Amino acid sequence: MTFLFKSDAKRGAIFREVLARELPDLPFAIDPAKIDAAAVRYMIAWLVPPDLAVYRNLEILFSIGAGIDQFNAASVPAGVKIVRMVEDGIVRMMQEYVTLAVLTLHRNWPAYVDQQRQQLWRAVPQPQARERRIGVLGLGMLGQAVLERLEPFGFPLFGWSRSPRTIDGVTTHHGADGLDRLLETTDILICLLPLTDETRGLLNAELFAKLPRGAALVQTGRGPQLDQAALLATLDSGHLAGAVLDVTDPEPLPAEHPLWRHPRVLITPHVASVTQPESAALAVAENIKRHRAGLDPVGLVDRSRGY
Ligand code: NAP
Ligand code: GLV
Repeated sequence: MTFLFKSDAKRGAIFREVLARELPDLPFAIDPAKIDAAAVRYMIAWLVPPDLAVYRNLEILFSIGAGIDQFNAASVPAGVKIVRMVEDGIVRMMQEYVTLAVLTLHRNWPAYVDQQRQQLWRAVPQPQARERRIGVLGLGMLGQAVLERLEPFGFPLFGWSRSPRTIDGVTTHHGADGLDRLLETTDILICLLPLTDETRGLLNAELFAKLPRGAALVQTGRGPQLDQAALLATLDSGHLAGAVLDVTDPEPLPAEHPLWRHPRVLITPHVASVTQPESAALAVAENIKRHRAGLDPVGLVDRSRGY
């Protein structure tokens, strides 16, 4: 019975140390060439290795990140559990990033940066937080954590999910009709949805048209959820005021892509949240203990939903 780590060596050293402490009976390997593939019961990776079939006794495939869309789930045998990363570091970093993005947009920071370049000392009209409505797409681990962090600022908060959710201080909607209701009351839209067949291309011209004029977008989900051409057109028409993009399609964007130089777009290179190896290794160890005790791991992916 072996745990196979397929990611960078620096993180691997931390995983090795934590798992040796938490699960001393579980051999740990980084180099697949040095082990018997049939002994591998648990694997952690960002992408499904092309030779996955050789690990014929694999029980759990862990994602090193919160998302699992980068795995081609269809290529993972049905008996293998797919588990996404649920750990505090990812949550904390996403709270920081989205708070930064919302405040940047709310306080007109890109306009002031532009004015500074022109040595212009001029106040931009400033709505109060109670007048800036925040809508979050996705009310899972990250959507809920972000709403909790934004609550003290006094923004009216709205959220949307697939199934009904009740969250104190947040007006929630669900399903297709619920999306339209959320968009009507959203000035800053935050996407924290997993990439699935239903969410691919969701952030498109039709959706942007349902937002109030002057709304802005924070895209922290996955690049293929956003129609980038539609975003550019909607920014240029003036209907959308700005966008903060942490994810794009492709990543990175080609050098000539107009989003790079758009004055009302801020781009970061998919860094909103980064898995923290210490807490991630502890979460994985805990999940292996749960699995051995006959319990479902935390973050078990429901293949029929795709997340
Ligand atoms: P999660 O806990 O699985 O939550 C997903 C949420 O999305 C749930 O509320 C779910 O609804 C909702 N949802 C899924 N499909 C939907 C649909 N078709 N219509 C409406 N709502 C839908 O996921 P998470 O841990 O919060 O992570 C969300 C995503 O963030 C990840 O999948 C990943 O793509 C992205 N992410 C990005 C970064 C980054 O650095 N940019 C880092 C980490 C994660 P229900 O509540 O009804 O199930
Ligand atoms: C990063 O995007 C993750 O899925 O953790």
